[in-house]
Amino acid sequence: MKSGVFGPLSIVVITLVATSAMAQTQITFTKDVAPILQERCQVCHRPGTFAPMSLLTYEEARPWAKSIKEKVLMREMPPWHIDKNVGIQRFSNDISLSDEEIAVIVKWVDNGAPKGNPADMPPARKFEDKETWQIGQPDLIINLPKDVVVRANAPDQWPDILVDPGLKEDRYVKGVQIIPIKGFPVIHHIRTSIVEPTDETRNSGQLDGTDGALEVGEQGVFLNEYAIGKKGDVFPEGSGRLIKAGTKINFQLHLHASGQETPTNVALGLTFYPKGYVPKHVISSTTVSVAKIDLRPNTANVRSDGYLTLLKPARLLSFQPHMHNRGKAECLEAIYPTGKVEMLSCAKFYFNWHINYVYHDDAAPLLPSGTVLHSISWHDNTAANKFNPDPDAQITWGQRTVDEMGSAWISWYYMSEQDFKKETEARRAVPQVLSSAR
Ligand code: HEC
Repeated sequence: MKSGVFGPLSIVVITLVATSAMAQTQITFTKDVAPILQERCQVCHRPGTFAPMSLLTYEEARPWAKSIKEKVLMREMPPWHIDKNVGIQRFSNDISLSDEEIAVIVKWVDNGAPKGNPADMPPARKFEDKETWQIGQPDLIINLPKDVVVRANAPDQWPDILVDPGLKEDRYVKGVQIIPIKGFPVIHHIRTSIVEPTDETRNSGQLDGTDGALEVGEQGVFLNEYAIGKKGDVFPEGSGRLIKAGTKINFQLHLHASGQETPTNVALGLTFYPKGYVPKHVISSTTVSVAKIDLRPNTANVRSDGYLTLLKPARLLSFQPHMHNRGKAECLEAIYPTGKVEMLSCAKFYFNWHINYVYHDDAAPLLPSGTVLHSISWHDNTAANKFNPDPDAQITWGQRTVDEMGSAWISWYYMSEQDFKKETEARRAVPQVLSSAR
């Protein structure tokens, strides 16, 4: 060790400072970290789920301390990948950590991840039964006609299963939820889509025909998605989605083998408005998607753009980036009729998560008629992308998982000019809320 005149002295000073700081802010697992893990992590990280490890106890969490620090700092965990530096930040399904929570975890790890006083440990968290309907008892429950069996050791699989629920009449949906009824430990997530009789031969509705390509294998229009901990969707009173007679439901499952052969099945529950009732706001989903993608081998940060014109004033309800293995990030921008441009949302993209970001009621963009929604998709076709099966391949647009896409799924409803005026005025009356109304 270096022994200069100030050597020993400065060591003493540092030790003193460190000790007094530690005394005030000694961060321990039982007192500080366990409550965060309970609130934000354990819904997935507990025995019997598809997550790689349990984080219920100190003994279970301690070996992962370094990895936990890295994942929370990168905001990879919990899986909420919205860019916190641009765009709207208020979402109704936000599961991210606050900056303070991240700081607590990082300090805990940097200080050697101490356990602390066992008496500080909060009582174990209780988890909701995964098979309860949070939307109320459904009027219609749709199951897979037969179980999908996941072999003990299989690569991840993404089957698409089209189910005909035999709908004889048009109904407006008030609530929608998916619950896993068999094979919970292997279900990473599920997306469902509405496939109307005409959709089987044409594309899920581009509003202005900028694209028009058929997404076979990813048929239909996004309905809802399931991941552990996600609650059902209940649309605000007076709004709902139309599901027409003869509509089929496409289930896309992401299944992840658990080391044990596992039969899997799920239930999609729908609650309806009373027969004959037409909600004031009819919610639709569609994509703002690129028509062309050209990824050269070993190339990062390839950008593709898509556009969609709104023909009436609209309220944008949610944004779900959708790409394949080489997706990296996606943004959604509004180009207003005045020419003004506003970034609404940007999110990093990881192929194993398909997160639908649902805007908070007070922040859902109010977009005037003529607004152009602009999706910006970024792909990474290099080996640095761990989901990339072959960085030497040339990749173009296509429906198969080995091809690429760049779609922003959006849910929205149109409204009259009069209602738009009312909603924008009501929005202006709410202080300090990010408003995109122009
Ligand atoms: C919605 C479910 C979910 C939530 C919530 C969640 N995780 Fe995870 N976590 C996963 C899954 C699944 C993986 C496996 C990798 C993947 O699929 O992204 C994972 C991976 C990890 C890893 C990497 C493990 C490895 O194999 O290297 C760490 C560390 C981690 N999570 C920590 C956390 C922490 C800390 C929290 C809370 C602050 C959290 N996770 C919240 C599902 C979740």
